[in-house]
Amino acid sequence: YVIGIDLGTSAVKVLLLNQLGEVCGEVSQVYPLIQEKSGHSEQDPEEWVHKTIRALSVLVKEFEGEIEAIEGISFSGQMHGLVLLDQNNEVLRNAILWNDVRTTKQCEMIYELVGKDTLLNVARNPALEGFTLPKLLWVKEYEPDIYKKAKTFLLPKDYLRFRLTGELNSEYSDAAGTLLLNVVKKEWSSEICNAVGVDISLCPPLVESHAFVGTITNEIAQQTGLSIGTKVFTGGADNACGAIGSGILSDGKSLCSIGTSGVVLSYEEDKGRDFGGKVHYFNHGKENAFYTMGVTLAAGYSLSWFKDTFAEQEDFSAVLKGIEDVPIGANGLLFTPYLVGERTPHADALIRGSFIGVDGSHKRIDFVRAVIEGITFSLNESIEIFRESGKNIETIVSIGGGAKNDMWLQIQADIFNAKIQKLSSEQGPGIGAGMLAAYGCGWYASINDCADLFSRVVKTYEPIEENVVKYRELFALYKKVYQQTEEISR
Ligand code: XUL
Repeated sequence: YVIGIDLGTSAVKVLLLNQLGEVCGEVSQVYPLIQEKSGHSEQDPEEWVHKTIRALSVLVKEFEGEIEAIEGISFSGQMHGLVLLDQNNEVLRNAILWNDVRTTKQCEMIYELVGKDTLLNVARNPALEGFTLPKLLWVKEYEPDIYKKAKTFLLPKDYLRFRLTGELNSEYSDAAGTLLLNVVKKEWSSEICNAVGVDISLCPPLVESHAFVGTITNEIAQQTGLSIGTKVFTGGADNACGAIGSGILSDGKSLCSIGTSGVVLSYEEDKGRDFGGKVHYFNHGKENAFYTMGVTLAAGYSLSWFKDTFAEQEDFSAVLKGIEDVPIGANGLLFTPYLVGERTPHADALIRGSFIGVDGSHKRIDFVRAVIEGITFSLNESIEIFRESGKNIETIVSIGGGAKNDMWLQIQADIFNAKIQKLSSEQGPGIGAGMLAAYGCGWYASINDCADLFSRVVKTYEPIEENVVKYRELFALYKKVYQQTEEISR
């Protein structure tokens, strides 16, 4: 067996996978977001460690007698979050997360100091609030005492791995989301570090996602019940692991993943391909490959916000029950999911969401359908960018919370005007992490071989022409709402 640990934004999920790529066990533990001000979003790294140990020990207990057979562990993690460590590797402050958008000023500074062309050539991405470098500069400016004590920064799953093994490392797929990596050369960029005044020694050593980094510590073995000597492999960013776990490992393959954020990504091997910074361009968890990606900041988060605010006692399936009875367009209700600003295509930290067209006859279920449609429209804006740049997007694998509901999968097919494939498990990132461990353990000759077993399509949703036409009209209206609500969001 191998274990894939997915350190998400709302929960950590641990999956037990066998050599046939089957998910044999699954435990998750939730933790909260700390949102002290609008646009702020933090978490306590200690909570990640504590909840992961708890989840692992529950999983190991369930499979008592078989733990000797757990050969390796690897990780998938929420991207971009800043964890700062002092010289004793103690955490200096809460982690500032990917969906924290307090850093607009620092993004402007980065453009000024580095220059947009250099940034796009070297880091292959624009300066966006969610990325790690702006957060580092924010701490430098507003918490100088903490910054002075900082000796290393880590990304969330890298910190978790450090606590499980005692080894300090990062890898390319997550490093790409910092803005400090030369993405094509696969090394920290001294050019960017010097320009922004960040000491390059803060950046952790880089290894490949399937690299063996050590074994779990004796203390962790005791706390979880895992065997001493359980091997640990580096892992990757959640979107890279989602891509691995869904078999997005060759040209022409695309993925839609709806978790707290929502992403549409597409496999890329061409180092020279230029999207002008309109979509992210990151290193894959597969060696020497890349992916391009558009991001909706509040995808699943819009739905969980709606549930927590208007249906706290119910679970998601109860909240979604009946969306199939609401006609396309939610009886005239339109939702934009800009609860924490928006990344693609607007790169706007200040925009906020809206319901347009509220009518006295609307029921709660109309709002739910509008939320689902609004999230999907937002993701379609990323697909539109891909298509405009010449990418052929005919089939999309769908994973995450958005793949749990049949109707939502059909809505994706109709809005994206593409075939949507559902896999045997919607847990792409955790499976991708497990695959990195399996490949690292030497079970398979390549990560692609591994994918043949681990990601199986179980159902395909075809776009229905009549629905595609209706959604095309609604999408044109949806796109207008951004400009109309821009001013009132400021
Ligand atoms: C990607 C991004 C999110 C997080 C969610 O750029 O910010 O998708 O990775 O965990």
